[in-house]
Amino acid sequence: MRRLIALAMLVVFLAPLSVFAKEGMWLPILLKKYNIEEMQKMGFKLTAEDIYDINKASMKDAVVIFGGGCTGELISDKGLLITNHHCGYRQIQAHSSLENDYLTNGFWAMSQKEELPNPGLSVKFLVRMADVTAEAMKGITDESKEQKELKKNIKEIEKAAEKDNGYKAIVKPIFNGNQYFLFVYEEYKDVRLVGAPPSAIGKFGGDTDNWMWPRHTGDFSLFRIYADKDGKPAEYSPNNVPLKPKKFFPISMKGVKTNDFTMVFGYPGSTARYLPSQAVDRIMNVSDPDKVAIRTLKLRLMNEDMEADRGVRIQYAAKNASTSNAWKKWQGEIKGLKRLNAVERKLNQEKAFKAWMEQDPARQKTYGQVLPQFEELYKALKPYSKAYDYYSEIIYRGTDIFSIARTVDRLIKRSFNYDAAKRQKAADALKASIDKHFKDYNQPTDEKIFTELLKVYGKEVDCIFQPEYFCKNYAKLESGKFTKKIYRKSILTSKTKLNALLSNFTPANAKKLEKDPIIRLYREFVDAFTVKVWPNHAKISTKIGAVQKLYMKALMEMNKGKALYPDANFTLRVAYGKVEGYQPKDGVTYKHFTTLDGIIAKDNPEIYDYNVPQRLKELYKNKDYGQYADSSDGKVHTCFVASNHTTGGNSGSPVVNAEGHLIGVNFDRCWEGTMSDIMFDPERCRNIVLDIRYALFLIDKFAGAGYLLDEMQLVK
Ligand code: ARG
Ligand code: ASP
Repeated sequence: MRRLIALAMLVVFLAPLSVFAKEGMWLPILLKKYNIEEMQKMGFKLTAEDIYDINKASMKDAVVIFGGGCTGELISDKGLLITNHHCGYRQIQAHSSLENDYLTNGFWAMSQKEELPNPGLSVKFLVRMADVTAEAMKGITDESKEQKELKKNIKEIEKAAEKDNGYKAIVKPIFNGNQYFLFVYEEYKDVRLVGAPPSAIGKFGGDTDNWMWPRHTGDFSLFRIYADKDGKPAEYSPNNVPLKPKKFFPISMKGVKTNDFTMVFGYPGSTARYLPSQAVDRIMNVSDPDKVAIRTLKLRLMNEDMEADRGVRIQYAAKNASTSNAWKKWQGEIKGLKRLNAVERKLNQEKAFKAWMEQDPARQKTYGQVLPQFEELYKALKPYSKAYDYYSEIIYRGTDIFSIARTVDRLIKRSFNYDAAKRQKAADALKASIDKHFKDYNQPTDEKIFTELLKVYGKEVDCIFQPEYFCKNYAKLESGKFTKKIYRKSILTSKTKLNALLSNFTPANAKKLEKDPIIRLYREFVDAFTVKVWPNHAKISTKIGAVQKLYMKALMEMNKGKALYPDANFTLRVAYGKVEGYQPKDGVTYKHFTTLDGIIAKDNPEIYDYNVPQRLKELYKNKDYGQYADSSDGKVHTCFVASNHTTGGNSGSPVVNAEGHLIGVNFDRCWEGTMSDIMFDPERCRNIVLDIRYALFLIDKFAGAGYLLDEMQLVK
C-alpha cells in the first residue's frame, strides 16, 4: 500500500514535467535527444541541425545577445538586426534631448550614413557550446577543495577555448552545478541605431499595459552590426562596414493562426523551477511584497515629478521603466503563485521525493538530509534576507546619489594602489558615466526619494543591521532638512566640482572625496551591510546552494530517461509551443491576436502612453495597409500570444514558425502567467509577441523607411 501511495505521488510530481510539453527552455545541443521528435509532431518542419550546428550555418548564427540582457536577431545580409524598443531604450534615450526627442518622436536613419553609433553597446554571437562537465570536475575528489579546483579547471577550459581566436568563453553551471557547459562567443562592438518608433508606439500603453494582454505595443527597434573589412569585430570606426552574417531570418508575411507551431530562440535570463517550498514561501509572502512596497513609494515620487516637467520625464524615463517593470512583475508573480497554491504543490512534490527516497536505503543515505536542511537553512536565512532585500532596493539601487557615490568610491579605493598615470586613467574612464548621470539627474527628485526611502530603511530594517547612529536618528530625516544639508555640502551633486577633482586626480583629491558627507554616509551603510549582513547571508546561501545541488541531482535521478530542462541562466535556449489564446478567469476568453482597431480605441491625447501619433491615425482612417494586412480580416495585426516558456532576457527573441521563418519578436508575458519563472501553468502562461508584419508596416508606411525592406527576405 505504502509503495502504491508513493507511486501515485510520483505520478503527481512528474506530471507537469512530461505531460505539458510547452514548459521548458531547452539547450539547443540537446534538442536532438529530447525534443525534436515532439517538435516535429507539433508541426515543426525543420531539423535539430537547422537550429543548431557548428559545421554549417544554422539558426543560431542569426541570434545574438543584445547588450547586457536582451536578445536580437539578424534580418538581412547587411547586418540589420531587430530587437525590442525597450531593449534599445537606453540607447534611444541617450541620443535624445529636448531638441532631438527621439523617445517621443522616434528616429529613422534614411541611409546608412545617418545611423547612430552607441558606445558601450555590443552584440554577441554564440560560436559553439559544449558539455564540459567531465573536464570541470576533473581531479576533484575532496569536497572541501571542490570550489577551488572547480574554479581552476573552469579557468583552464575558458582559456583554451579563447586561444588565438579573439572569442570570449564562459563556463556556466547547469542543473544547479550538477553539470557544466562551455559557451564561446564572438562579440561585435560597433552597433548602430537604425530606427525606433515613437514611444507612443514602441512603448504604447506604457507601464499600464506592461505585462498585460491584450496588448498593442509596437515594441521593436532596429540596429545594424558593423565589422572591419574582413567581417571581424572592431571598435567603432567610420571605416567599418555592415556585417555579412552567416545567417539571417527570412520574414513570413503569412501571419499566424491558432494552434500554429511556434518556437522562441533566445537568451532567457533566470528561472527557479526546482526550488523547495520554503524558498517559494519566502518569495511570495515576504520578499516580493517587501520589494513591491519600496518601489511603490519610489515610483510615486518619480511619477509626480515626471508628470510636472517634460525635461524630468525624459531624464527619468529609462529609470522609471526599469523600476516599474520588476515592480509590476512581482505583483503578478505573487498572484499567480497564490492562485496555484504554490507552496502546497511544492510540499506535495517534496512528499513524493521523500517517498521515492525511502524506497531505497542508498538514496536515503545520499539524500536523507536534503529536506531537513532546507528547513533549517531557510529559517536561518530569514533575518538576513530581509536586510539584504532592503539594502539592495534602497542603498544599492534606490537613489541616484548613492549610485554615483558607489562609482566614485570604487575609484577612490582602487586609486590608492595606483601610480599617478594609472590613477588618472581610472578617473578619466569614469567621464562618460558621470556625464550620463548628470544628464539624467534632477536633484529635487532624488532628494525626495532619498528622504523617503531612507526613512523606510530606518524603520523596517533591524537596527543591528544598520549603521548605529543612523538607526537611532533616522527620524530626523522627516523634515527634509538633513537631506538638503547633506546634498548641499556634497561634491557629488555638482558636475563641475566633481569633474574638477577627477580631472586632476591626486591622492589629496581622493582624500578630499573621502571626506564628502555623502560618500561618508554611503560607506557607513556599506560597512554595516558588509560586516553584519553579507557574510552570514553568503554563508547560508552557499550552504543552500549545496543542498539545492543535491536535491536537483535527486530529481534528475527520479526522472531518469525523461526530458528535464535546466533553469535559465542567460544561455541560448529553445522554447516551443503554439499560438493560442487563454482564459484569464472564469467566463472570459482571450483571442490570440490584437489589431490596429485596439490602438485607435485606446487613443487618448491626454495620456502620454496612449497618445496615438497623427500619422498612424491617418493610415488607419485611409486603410492604407499595403501588403501588411492580414488576409483573414484585412486588418493590421499588432501582437499575438503563444504558449512558449520565456522569461526576462527573451525580450527581442525571434519567434519563428514551422518553416523557421520569422513571424514575430518576443517582448513580454501575460499578467496571469508571470509566475512562470517559478511555476509554469500551461493554461495561463503565455508569451507576448509583436507581429512582424506590424513592424514592417510601421517601417514602411508610418516612417517612410521602406528602403530597409529591400534588404529583407519576405516570404509571401
Ligand atoms: N515587461 C517587459 C519585460 O520584462 C517589457 C518591459 C519594458 N516596458 C515597460 N513599460 N517598462 O522586459
Ligand atoms: N519583457 C521581458 C524581457 O525584457 C520578457 C519577459 O519577462 O517575458 O526580457
